[in-house]
Amino acid sequence: MKDATELTYDEAKEELERLAREIALSDKAYYQNDDPYLSDAQYDALKHRNLAIEQRFPELIRPDSPSKRVGATVMSVFGKVKHNFPMLSLRDVFSREEVADFVLGVKRFLNTSEQIEFMSEPKIDGLSFSARYEHGRFVQGATRGDGVVGEDITENLKTIRQLPLVLPYGVPEVLEVRGEVYMSKKDFFALNEKCLQQRKKIFANPRNAAAGSLRQLDPKITAERNLSIFAYTWGEVSNRPWHSQAEFFEYLRQWGFPTNPNNTLCHNEEDIAQSFARLMEQRAALDYDIDGMVYKVNSIELQERLGFLTRTPRWAIAHKFPAEQALTTIKDIRIQVGRTGALTPVADLEPVNVGGVMVSHATLHNEDEIKRKDFRIGDVVVVQRAGDVIPQLVEVVKEKRPKGAAEFVFPSVCPICGAHAIREEDEAVRRCTGGLSCPAQAKERLKHFVSRDAFDIVGLGDKIIDEFFDEGILRNPADIFTLKERNGGDDLFSAHDGLHLERREGWGKKSTDKLFAAIDARRKITLPRFIYALGIRQTGIATARLIAKHYGRFEHFMSDMINKETLKVVTIDGIGAAMALDMVEFFGEPHNLEIVRKLLEFVEVEEFVDTAKTDSQLAGKTVVFTGTLSKITRNEAKALALAAGAKVAGSVSAKTDFVVVGSDAGSKAKTAQELGITILSEDEFSAML
Ligand code: IVH
Repeated sequence: MKDATELTYDEAKEELERLAREIALSDKAYYQNDDPYLSDAQYDALKHRNLAIEQRFPELIRPDSPSKRVGATVMSVFGKVKHNFPMLSLRDVFSREEVADFVLGVKRFLNTSEQIEFMSEPKIDGLSFSARYEHGRFVQGATRGDGVVGEDITENLKTIRQLPLVLPYGVPEVLEVRGEVYMSKKDFFALNEKCLQQRKKIFANPRNAAAGSLRQLDPKITAERNLSIFAYTWGEVSNRPWHSQAEFFEYLRQWGFPTNPNNTLCHNEEDIAQSFARLMEQRAALDYDIDGMVYKVNSIELQERLGFLTRTPRWAIAHKFPAEQALTTIKDIRIQVGRTGALTPVADLEPVNVGGVMVSHATLHNEDEIKRKDFRIGDVVVVQRAGDVIPQLVEVVKEKRPKGAAEFVFPSVCPICGAHAIREEDEAVRRCTGGLSCPAQAKERLKHFVSRDAFDIVGLGDKIIDEFFDEGILRNPADIFTLKERNGGDDLFSAHDGLHLERREGWGKKSTDKLFAAIDARRKITLPRFIYALGIRQTGIATARLIAKHYGRFEHFMSDMINKETLKVVTIDGIGAAMALDMVEFFGEPHNLEIVRKLLEFVEVEEFVDTAKTDSQLAGKTVVFTGTLSKITRNEAKALALAAGAKVAGSVSAKTDFVVVGSDAGSKAKTAQELGITILSEDEFSAML
């Protein structure tokens, strides 16, 4: 084979065509048929060659080039896409009777007593997309948005290998294929595993993971996430050649779109009921989440006669599954003690399979929840997973309560250290008053101290901290910085001259040195990280930043706190009285003060230089937040905006510069649009910070 640098123009053109075809075929075998025939190395070699040729002849890059799947361009905002054919939603029903009513309603409307065919399809729990093709080429991708206007996700959709970029000859000139983007359970668990390793927030369920991966201004991130699709309906189509939903699926498959293998044509209500029962049973074993079935009148002619209600078709309905539930027994109720001393009750359960996931624990939230639902040890309970990873206990099956099961008495002392656990008025949680003399709190404090936004010492994982604490190697954050000193030298014959971490099981010289290097790298730390790392109650990273900005130097902050100058902190915009009291209380505790002073001997806390005011694009601008943000809380976002020199307002007016829009945003987003104010997504806002 000729080297890419030696190819002529015509040879390059021909070869790029061949490569596009070969890679598409291999993608299809891999992603659609689950039957790969190329090894990873062979596949990578093809892609490499494709890229090398394209680099030499950029003018020859094909619209269906495999290199388009990598997500090359980073966007600053999602453009808007108007759906000429709105993306509708479906009416939900929950029982067989309601399905019967639906079928009856359809027949009545059509004034017929004959059987009508329905297509029964699993309702994929993902996000809907619309993919527009013109002359057989993928030209635009959009989210559903409010059904009429969605967001332009062309570049993101391109990275999904299952989506064909070029369609065979003979497809309608304009064709919008719609369906669902989802993340397989396998990919979801792998992604969360990776997030855990990198100490990032994990996703609650595959749907959230898919949403978070698709709506990325940097499509490279989408490309890394392994999203999948199922196609199931259409939008605008010129000269539509199909006459039924079943026929449409035939076309989709011919054109290379993935369709769900469980879509079935039903001839009567009995078939419909069977398809529902069958999928409900298979549900747990499927590699993707479904939350019900969709029944659609099969004939397009009849669909057109039936038409639409305001936002939903009259010819289709969603039959939702009940939440995935199971019965099990509470073996024990344990109390966990967190960093700030909060006592959280956790139920240990007889392990049970709930919708394909083994569940052996569930949080009971707090004292009142236990009382309200009257959970007792030995009780048989209903466990539920509502699409989320964290299971909930729904209720007790009272008839099955064992004789003599005693009411659960919430402890009034800390189960770990024995200190009083008290509940302040208006608070739902009970807290251990042991402070740092409570091992549970001390351990959690240490874990917080080394966490990602604090000192970020990767070598000190949760398990190691537990071990080191129990063995007395680490009792407080300052101890971390004397580890190396205490470790002892390389002398093999002196077993008693130090900790010698390298001699621990599973450790070695290399990992020990790595840990020490990680610790040394943090002997100099920024002021916000340092303040946050202390673990003062209610002081998150955003608050820490506000304090850093206000005080500039840690000593100034500390001396105000020691002098109980609560009022001085309250003057900082974004910090309330309750937070200020917690700060003063923290420094009022002699033990805390001692550790802070020790820490200051080992680490240099940098002075905070406020670059935000001049550098940030947000400086001096008025920002309004609306909707729910997914990565940080609204309060945190506000604090960050303030820290960047912005003003935060509660309502949109002509004076507003930016509106940051989360999910389920309401009228503010609309007003902003009408006033022509720049709308930012959460990610864009973060990027501006
Ligand atoms: S058809 C007019 N079919 O469910 C009909 N929707 O509540 C438009 N969905 O927004 C939708 N699987 O995101 C249809 N097989 C399926 C579906 C499906 C999942 C989602 C879709 C839609 C929502 C409707």
